[in-house]
Amino acid sequence: FSLKNYNTFGIEAKAKQFTAVHSVEELKTVLVNNPTEKKFILGGGSNMLLTQDIDALVIHIDLKGKKIIKENDDFVWVESQAGENWHEFVLWTIEQNFGGLENMSLIPGNVGTTPVQNIGAYGAEIKDHFVSCQAMAIANQEIRTFSNEECHFGYRESIFKNEVKNQYIITSVVFKLTKRNHKINTSYGDILGELEKNNIQTPSLKDVSNAVIAIRQSKLPDPKELGNSGSFFKNPIVLKSDFEKIHQQFPEMKYYEVSATEVKVPAGWLIEQAGFKGKRFGDAGVHKNQALVLVNYGNATGQEILAVSKNIQETVFATFGIHIEAEVNVI
Ligand code: EPU
Repeated sequence: FSLKNYNTFGIEAKAKQFTAVHSVEELKTVLVNNPTEKKFILGGGSNMLLTQDIDALVIHIDLKGKKIIKENDDFVWVESQAGENWHEFVLWTIEQNFGGLENMSLIPGNVGTTPVQNIGAYGAEIKDHFVSCQAMAIANQEIRTFSNEECHFGYRESIFKNEVKNQYIITSVVFKLTKRNHKINTSYGDILGELEKNNIQTPSLKDVSNAVIAIRQSKLPDPKELGNSGSFFKNPIVLKSDFEKIHQQFPEMKYYEVSATEVKVPAGWLIEQAGFKGKRFGDAGVHKNQALVLVNYGNATGQEILAVSKNIQETVFATFGIHIEAEVNVI
């Protein structure tokens, strides 16, 4: 079974077996009926690089549905099933005038995978609006609820990438959103610029969403047109003491303080300075408008993309002494 249409990088890789599940009961049945089979869980396929065929039963989580489970005058609790497309879900919340997710418009992928890496963009992260998620244990099919605290969210991190990696399948997520007094967040410079361009002084949720969509479309390639997985690397967090030495040598280097002892450096800047922006190696390459994004021009293999990523990591390390870590799951 070809997975080419199930990963946004558009990599050709084969699954030994493939099944899509549309309900929690169906998921349970598949797990119960295949106790010894190796399993590989597939959501929206937007954050992985397939470098080989998958010698396992691939289970595609296609659970659909969303509903309001609770509300008061100020807030609403919305539950979405894991297989809902994230961006369509965000647009739906904005249509209902529910605030909180607008800065995360147009992020590829499905709702069920958003907690895994605590997706974020333009000054917002899902951990700020996430209440809980339900997940099924692969081993015994028990359903467990993970609260916000239990998820151990960090920058592109959660318990699902660490302590309970590959043990649970997220089946639904609950978000708490505002019904009024929305906290419009235009702190990320690009958003203000985009709003000013359109002469918008008091932006609505929709205005912020539209601004984010415009910025993303100008920088980030659409996976439907050019295979990619968003940021391939995480922005590295460096000790201030180390950073100061590097900064003396590269005074134009951009950075943001993240704590009293650490700074975050934009990997896109490092990669651009290392000379990779817009570079192409066969069908694998680095996007021309955002050096953090690796792209598949057509028939690149996962191994070819991986080789480019290693080349970048080594060159960035040789130039700046900073290690950049993949954000994408390399399979
Ligand atoms: N930069 C460069 N050259 C580049 C790209 C970026 O010099 O080729 C510089 C920019 O000038 C800017 C800084 O790096 O000063 C930051 O760039 P940008 O605002 O584009 O954001 P980013 O740090 O590169 C992060 C997220 C994105 C998210 C944006 C906006 C990570 C790994 N990536 O990128 O998330 O959309 O901020 O909030 O944190 C994703 O995770 O897939 C993703 C796209």
